[in-house]
Order: sequence, then C-alpha cells, then structure tokens
Amino acid sequence: MGAINPVVDLAADGDIAVLSVNHPPVNALSQQVRAGILAGVRQAIGDPAVRAIVLICDGKTFIAGADITEFGKPLQPPSLVEVEDAIEGSGKPVVAAIHGTALGGGLEVALCCHYRVAVPSAKCGLPEVNLGLLPGAGGTQRLPRLVGVEQALDMVTSGKHVDAKAALAAGLVDELAPEGALRASAIAFARKVVAEHRPLRRVRDQDDKLAAARDKPEIFEGFRKANAKKFRGFLAPEYNIQAIEAAVGKSFDDGLAVERKLFSELMAGTQSAAQRHVFFAERAVWKVPDVPDETPTIPIKSVGIIGAGTMGGGIAMNFANIGVPITIVETKQDALDRGLGVVRKNYERSTKSGRLTMADVDRRMQLFTGTLELDKLADCDLVIEAVFENMDIKKDVFGRLDRIVKPGAILATNTSALDINQIATAVTRPEAVIGLHFFSPANVMRLVEVVRARSTSKSVIATSMQLAKKIGKIAALVGVCPGFVGNRILYARSQQANAMLMEGAMPWDIDKAIYDFGLPMGPFAMSDLAGLDIGWIPEKSKSSTIREVLCEQNRRGQKTGAGFYDYDEQRNAKPSPVTEQIIKDFAARSGRPQRQISGQEILERCLYAQINEGAKILEEKIAIRPSDIDVVWINGYGWPVYRGGPMFYADTVGLSQVVKKLEEYGPLLGKDFTISPLLRQLAADGKRFQDMK
Ligand code: 3HC
Ligand code: NAI
Repeated sequence: MGAINPVVDLAADGDIAVLSVNHPPVNALSQQVRAGILAGVRQAIGDPAVRAIVLICDGKTFIAGADITEFGKPLQPPSLVEVEDAIEGSGKPVVAAIHGTALGGGLEVALCCHYRVAVPSAKCGLPEVNLGLLPGAGGTQRLPRLVGVEQALDMVTSGKHVDAKAALAAGLVDELAPEGALRASAIAFARKVVAEHRPLRRVRDQDDKLAAARDKPEIFEGFRKANAKKFRGFLAPEYNIQAIEAAVGKSFDDGLAVERKLFSELMAGTQSAAQRHVFFAERAVWKVPDVPDETPTIPIKSVGIIGAGTMGGGIAMNFANIGVPITIVETKQDALDRGLGVVRKNYERSTKSGRLTMADVDRRMQLFTGTLELDKLADCDLVIEAVFENMDIKKDVFGRLDRIVKPGAILATNTSALDINQIATAVTRPEAVIGLHFFSPANVMRLVEVVRARSTSKSVIATSMQLAKKIGKIAALVGVCPGFVGNRILYARSQQANAMLMEGAMPWDIDKAIYDFGLPMGPFAMSDLAGLDIGWIPEKSKSSTIREVLCEQNRRGQKTGAGFYDYDEQRNAKPSPVTEQIIKDFAARSGRPQRQISGQEILERCLYAQINEGAKILEEKIAIRPSDIDVVWINGYGWPVYRGGPMFYADTVGLSQVVKKLEEYGPLLGKDFTISPLLRQLAADGKRFQDMK
C-alpha cells in the first residue's frame, strides 16, 4: 500500500482498501490517473487482506471526466474501458465515494463500481453532449439501466447535472453520506456490504428499467419531436438518443459497440472540435495577460445604476440576484416607477415557472432603492450609467458623478457605441472609468463586454471581470472602438446584407441563409425584433433609406405588426409584398444590375466580412485573442456553438479560401471594404487563427 504513482494512492483502513485520486484541478482521467486506478484496483484485488475497495478523490471534486486536453491525440494506454472492466469485474465490492461533481468519464467509472455513496452537495452528470460528444465509456448503456430511459435521455442530451438527492431517488446513488464525512461513510458502507454478503451489483446485468421501455419506439420519437428546436443543427443529441435506443434494443455488449462507433464518429467530426474549442475559449476569456490573478480588487457591496430604462432595470436585476443592494436613479418619478415595475414583473414571471417564490421576489425588490437624486450614489462601490445613448448627456452625468461618488469607486458606462475615452475626459479620475456593455435583455443574456479605456486601472479591470463572473455572466475584455467587438462585427455583416438587397436578394433570402447556417435569426428578422425606429426621428425622415420608408409607413417591426416582414397575431413572420416593392424601387433607382443571389454567396459575403472584421479587431488589439471573439459571438449573438464562433469557423473553411473569396467578390463588398493584412498574412503562411500566439 502507498503511492501507486504521483496522482493515485492506495491506503488500507483495516480490511478496506481506499484508492484515492489526487490530480488537481478536477481529477480528470489523464493517462496517469487511468494507469494509477488500474494498478491500484489490481493490487487491492490481489491482496488477500482486502475485502472491499473504496474509490475516492482528493480536492474539490470526484473525477470530472476524461481529460479533454488528451482528445485528438493518440491514446496512451490503458484505455478507460480497460480500467472500468477491472473495476466492474472485481470479485471484491468496489464503492465509489462521490463529492463535488462526478461527470462524464468520472460518472462512467462510478457506474462500473458496484455501489455509489455521495454527499448531499455532490452532483452527477454526463455532459459530453456539450462537447459535441456522447459518453464513450459505457455511460449510455449503464445510465438507463439505473435511472430508466426517460431520465437517461434527458441527462445525456442536456448534459444536466443532477444533485445527490435526485440521484438517490433515481437509483443512481445508493446512499447519502453526511457532508464532510464521505471517506468514513464510504468505508462503513463497504464494510456493511461485506458483512451482509451483499451481491456484487453490476449495472450491466440489470434489465428491469430497460424492459419497461422495450418495444416503445414512441418514447424516442416523442422525445425527438419535443426537442427538435433545441437540437436544431447539433449532431450530438441525436447520436446520444441513438445510443440509448441501442441500450434498449440490444445486448449490453452490442449496445456498447454501437456507443463506441457513434462516439468515434463524433470525436472525428468538426462539431465536437468546435464545441471543445468553445469549452476552452470560455475559460481562456477570463485571463488577461497584463492583469494577473493577484491584482487587488475593490470590494463591491453596493451598486448604483443611472437610468431605469430597458438596460438599467435588467442590469440591476443581476445584482439583486446575488444579494447586492442597488440604488437606481431616474430623472422623473414616473420613469422610475415604470422601470421598477418592469423589474418586479420580470421577477414575478419567474414565479410562474417555479424558479422563484413570491418571498424571493420581495427579498430581491427590497434590495432596490429608487431615487431622483444622483447624490444618493455617493457611497456606492460601483456605478453603472445606462442613460440615453448621447455623448453630451453621458459626459454631463460622469462630470456630476465625479463630484459625488466616493474615491476608489468604479464608474462604468453601458454605452453600446460611444467613445469611452471621451466619456472619461469628463472626470478627474479616468482610471476609474470602464465600459460594462451588457446585452439586451440584460437579466438574461450571458455576455458582457468589459471595455478597457485608455486609462482604466488594472484593479478596476480585475474587479469588473470578477464581478461579471459572480453575477453569472461570461465576460470578454475588449478595447475601445466603434461597436467594440460584437456590434462592430455585426455591422460588417449588415453592410453586406444591405448591399445584397440592392443586387436582387430579398430580406427573407438573406435571413434564411443565416438561419440555416445555425443562427437563431437573420439580420432583417433581428431588426424587426429590435424595432426599426431605433434612432429614427420622424421629423428628419426623408425617405432616403429602405428603413426610413418602412418607418414612415408605420412598419416599425414586430411591435407594429409589420417591418421587413408582415406579422400575424402570433408574431409569425411572412415575406411582405410591400417591403419587396420598396426594395425593388430603391434597387431600380440605384442602377445596380439585378441578379439571382445564391445562398452560398449570401453566406460567404456575410460571414467572410465578419471574419475579416474580426481579423482587423485582432490587428488593432481590440480583442485579446481570436477565441474571445468567438465567445462574444456565441454568447451575445447566438452564433451556433457547433461551428465554434466566427474565427474558429474561418479556420475550418481555411483562411486562404476566405481571402480568395473576398478577392473574388471584390468591388461587390463595397468601396471602403479592405482585406485585413493580418488575415492575408495568416493565409499566406498557411496558418489558422488558432495558431496565433
Ligand atoms: N479535462 C481537462 N481539463 C479540465 C476538465 C477536463 N475534463 N474539466 C475542467 N478542466 C480544467 C479547465 O479547463 C480549467 O482549467 P484552467 O484553470 O487552466 O482554465 C480547470 O480545469 C478548472 O475548470 P473550471 O474553471 O471549469 O472549474 P469549475 O470549478 O468552475 O468547474 C467542472 C468544474 C464542473 C468540473 C467544470 O470544469 C466542467 O464542467 N468540466 C468539464 C466536465 C466534462 O465535460 N466532462 C466530460 C468530459 S468528456 C468525457 O468524459 C468522455 C468520456 O465519456 C469518455
Ligand atoms: P432607455 O431609453 O430604455 O433608458 C434610458 C433611461 O435613462 C430612461 O428611462 C431615461 O429616463 C433615463 N435617463 C436619461 N437621462 C438620465 C439622467 N441624466 N439621469 C438619470 N436617468 C436618465 O435606453 P436603454 O435602451 O436602456 O439604453 C441605455 C444605454 O444602454 C444606452 O447607452 C444604450 O446605447 C445602451 N445599450 C442599449 C442596449 C439595448 O439593446 N437597448 C444594449 C446595450 C447597450
């Protein structure tokens, strides 16, 4: 007994062998962990003094899965299945002791143990689907044998973690252990199994829960239908379903073979590569090279919000959700009442779905103080301005804040396009000024662009990133430029979309191409949703753009029942002959030759223009790394995860192909369009964005 290798240890507690894994941060099943567990199990089996084995982990969690960094590389033996076979085939009972999260390969290992004990705070899940995969080490075959087909389908296609109590109820866990006493409880459990001569319960041999679903194809068809919208475009959910179907319809070994085949196909495909890229991108995005982890942060105990409009109210909700008190300032009482009323209504809506109780709503609302006096913000640690998008108003507000708010506080703006360096000139402490660009609706959308201005201090940046994480957002640190990262790239796409309207494409042709690519909607449907009259002033409208004419005809988007599209009562969109005629008139006047534009051209022009803008953003160091741009577009604009974000997608197309196409389209792209030198250089060197260091 003793250390098996640097990450696995075998100890004796009387006649129970305790095999523990210590491989921070998450005890992932690296080659060393696999080899250590295998050797440890074999040693314990061969040791006559051992009557049972407990598998447990040190640190914050049970095994959280296969080691994703090893994916795509040649397998170093032993394989996970070899380890699992040794455990499941052991003639001595093996008990998994679970704390933290037993995920993916980690749960699959636990499913090969004969019993499972968990602390109440533990969670179990098979989240492979989120990496574009399915559980490839028996999970799809063993899980439904324990929890039944319906719950297994739900778990493998959503990747949801279930807590220990639910796992106990479902039969996934055999006993709960008191918090903090897992090791002793698991050992006691193992002793009980030995003393009572309980059988070795091998999950692979159980059949009653599968039998209940046999010859009922409607279970699977119903599940597919109910989730069609959610699964649109993704391969992995369907593959997971097929693997569970195999569990029901085939022997254990044949089902395992199906699982293995489907797993290999997914692993070799682009979708999983993209989803694994996103997994790492969403972790890398938090790292700011010149703002190290030890940078001092400012404690944020109270937040001030200026403006209780669309954004202010939504932003405030994020802080109330984590118990931080908010002072919200408006110019008029009715605007304040309206704003707070919307917040309450949003919370009340969550009581209908059961996410909040009325008591929760009251508790959150009590954290709000509404006021018409800016002076009330004097003691706030962070103030976020969300007033009208107008430089003069913003500078006026910041100038006043400078005189009111205590030193050391953060002064943030939610501007979507204004120059934050200019806003910072209104204060005597520009190091305190930062952009916190939330997306609408701000209580729902996960993305925040944290915008670093010229003088923003590192501590203000570190605090903002940390705070974004605390309120459950994903934050990308970006620099100042018109539109920052997200909207600047959106604008590059809009330019192409609008240009194509003048060449013969209709809004629905363009939207369809973008929707079929996997985004939730195309640019024109998105405009209709947001409202075409944002920034439109009736008195100044001169019928000089398609948008102006639409607004003049009271076609202002979904809210007026018509915009680019016509809408019925249920807000279903239909192509509009009125819009079509307006566009044709504009196109005729423009003198541009009209032609049929293919779906391929629509996609290439829209997406490659976005990629080109992304490259410029990198050149200008507005984004830290290409994968940050991917994170922005996935979380802020619904770019399909299975395509990895625009920059990852560019790599899959090949950068030289992107450049070649942009050159071919040439003048069609617009007179101001230029190809990014960085993009050209990478293409010429045969490199990818992922290769940038
Ligand atoms: N492999 C390699 N590294 C992993 C990892 C894994 N499975 N899971 C997490 N990490 C790394 C992260 O990249 C991160 O590294 P960093 O500090 O260098 O950025 C570090 O561990 C900590 O991760 P988090 O920041 O995510 O820590 P949290 O405490 O917030 O979350 C967690 C912990 C819930 C375990 C979360 O990391 C997670 O969900 N991990 C992925 C779990 C997963 O997908 N497992 C299935 C893998 S596929 C599989 O098992 C295939 C099998 O069926 C054959
Ligand atoms: P809004 O018009 O809904 O709300 C602005 C609110 O600010 C109004 O209620 C107004 O009464 C109040 N206000 C104006 N001047 C004020 C002052 N001096 N003191 C206190 N309150 C004042 O506008 P919205 O949409 O919430 O936008 C706010 C900011 O957020 C803008 O800078 C906008 O560009 C930005 N933004 C908007 C997004 C959106 O989708 N609506 C998305 C991201 C950013």
